[in-house]
Amino acid sequence: DAVAPFNVLMELDKGVLEPTDHTKRRHLSDMHGMYLEEPDEAAGDALVYTVHEIVVPESPDHIQCSTTILQPGRVGREFFMTKGHFHEVRGRSEVYLGLRGEGRLVMATEGGDHAVEHIVPGSVSYVPGGWAHRSVNIGSELLVFFAAYVGDAGHDYATIEDEGLPVLLTDAPDGPRVERNPRYTQ
Ligand code: PA5
Ligand code: NI
Repeated sequence: DAVAPFNVLMELDKGVLEPTDHTKRRHLSDMHGMYLEEPDEAAGDALVYTVHEIVVPESPDHIQCSTTILQPGRVGREFFMTKGHFHEVRGRSEVYLGLRGEGRLVMATEGGDHAVEHIVPGSVSYVPGGWAHRSVNIGSELLVFFAAYVGDAGHDYATIEDEGLPVLLTDAPDGPRVERNPRYTQ
């Protein structure tokens, strides 16, 4: 899996990569059941986030890189967020670099420990192996960040799909609030 050196140019405030090998978009319908409440009819099938990926071989010799653009919005009291996942290979770590907007990175182990870090322009968050991670846009503009992780990590979405993580980020009168997730039973 030899790969020749290459460059990609990122529009820092938009997260667009040029060239982009692969783009995926997640809408409300892709996240059915992940928010405590069902989205309003009026929200339609809104775009929640876009991921631009640089595709390299899925091997530990390589580093997968991508940008995520998370739209501002809420479902009920919860802010728009990514699906979130463990890495399939549990020990694989990841680094997030904040580029724009204001967010939170919610992380949790299978044992139920959790951590919440800030994503702001310039934040570098280290996600150790064994920690599920989900990003949340708590602001009123786009949240943009870059992520890099070990090539063979893979994504396990299923483990947190039904119950989510131990805490939720909600829009409270006094600002964003970290609340216990009533659906989390572990
Ligand atoms: O590698 C990561 O953790 C990120 O690039 C995410 O994949 C991205 O933010 C989208 O989130 P998810 O994969 O949970 O849908
Ligand atoms: Ni990841």
